[in-house]
Amino acid sequence: MPTLATTVDGLKLPNPFVIGSGPPGTNGKVIARAFDDGWGAVICKTVSLDASKVINVQPRYGRLRSRESQEIYGWENIELISDRGFETWLDEFKALKDSHPEGVLIASIMEEYNKNAWQEIVGRCEEAGVDSFELNMSCPHGMPERRMGAAVGEDPTTLEEVCRWVMEVATKPVWAKMTPNVTHIEDPTTAALRAGCQGVSAINTIRSVIGVDLETLRPEPNVEGYTTPGGYSSIAVRPIALRMCMEIATLIQKEFPGRTLSGLGGVETGEDAAQFILLGSHTVQVCTGVMKMGYRCVQPMCEQLLSFMEKHGFETLDDFRGKSLPYFTTHSDLVRRQTEARAAKKAAAEAKQMIKGDEEWTGDDFVDQSDALARG
Ligand SMILES: Cc1cc2nc3c(=O)[nH]c(=O)nc-3n(C[C@H](O)[C@H](O)[C@H](O)COP(=O)(O)O)c2cc1C
Repeated sequence: MPTLATTVDGLKLPNPFVIGSGPPGTNGKVIARAFDDGWGAVICKTVSLDASKVINVQPRYGRLRSRESQEIYGWENIELISDRGFETWLDEFKALKDSHPEGVLIASIMEEYNKNAWQEIVGRCEEAGVDSFELNMSCPHGMPERRMGAAVGEDPTTLEEVCRWVMEVATKPVWAKMTPNVTHIEDPTTAALRAGCQGVSAINTIRSVIGVDLETLRPEPNVEGYTTPGGYSSIAVRPIALRMCMEIATLIQKEFPGRTLSGLGGVETGEDAAQFILLGSHTVQVCTGVMKMGYRCVQPMCEQLLSFMEKHGFETLDDFRGKSLPYFTTHSDLVRRQTEARAAKKAAAEAKQMIKGDEEWTGDDFVDQSDALARG
């Protein structure tokens, strides 16, 4: 019987399914619920020292549905980080570690470009008992106006500096969460890993405009007639997330062996998770999927991942992590391989047609068999 249990950066997880930072980890009550329902770990909604600056608007989501089935496959949000006070969060972290000592509790944190602030938030979260950190360097809306989130994540030099501040004081594992809104995901990844982070998470949401209302001519989500570009998530972003995870995992293999990757973006099933693991992820996060399906979706996800493992004879996640990475190559190599394969196939077909004894002549293939034996 295969097992989903895994140890990542010293954290012992019963399964690789992690609640991604966002509404599904937005307060102590829902985090406790996620542990009770069997999630491998929970990353809280991003917290900061001064929540009074965080002012959300309503509505703040926009969704894209399939024309036929009406299934939601794209989700834009203009939600900010947590608007709940830092002291409240610290109390909840402590209470959660008391009520769920085995539950792996990861603090998603974000601060302004200020060394003291970053080091203070790390120290105080550690005192409250969190097991590790995810640095939100990637929120694409709202926060960059204050030199936070993606404003840091899109600039590898600043990112590296902030990660170094954190690594100076953190005694728990640290993952830096990458923004996909860059041309080369390897650049911020290198910066974070060079600064000493144990791992990276990828991806945060993709900067987007979900659509324009053709009656009012106003873009969505419409807040008093106006909007601002938001972050895109859900099924539609999965191919982009998989590509970026592949690139990050390849970089880790080559230049940072031993570092870890937490993959996310559009995961809704165990099969989706299997793909992220095949491309090098150690854990797989789910955020929008929980908003669509509820906390219990982790149970079918675990079953689906286990049956994938059983089918292939994999006993542990290590048995297939990164197994699909060697099958990426350059386009010119694809052309070379295809030319060689076609030539080999043609030669094999010709060899097959060449009769070796007179009893092999057949009426139907007579002309082809004659051709195959002929020169010129
Ligand atoms: C409504 C909403 C709020 C989010 N808030 C945060 C956040 O506070 N911090 C963060 O790092 N990511 C946040 N995210 C991004 C998710 O954690 C995740 O990176 C992204 O949505 C892609 O994964 P998914 O398709 O599973 O949602 C949020 C996403 C959504 C949909």
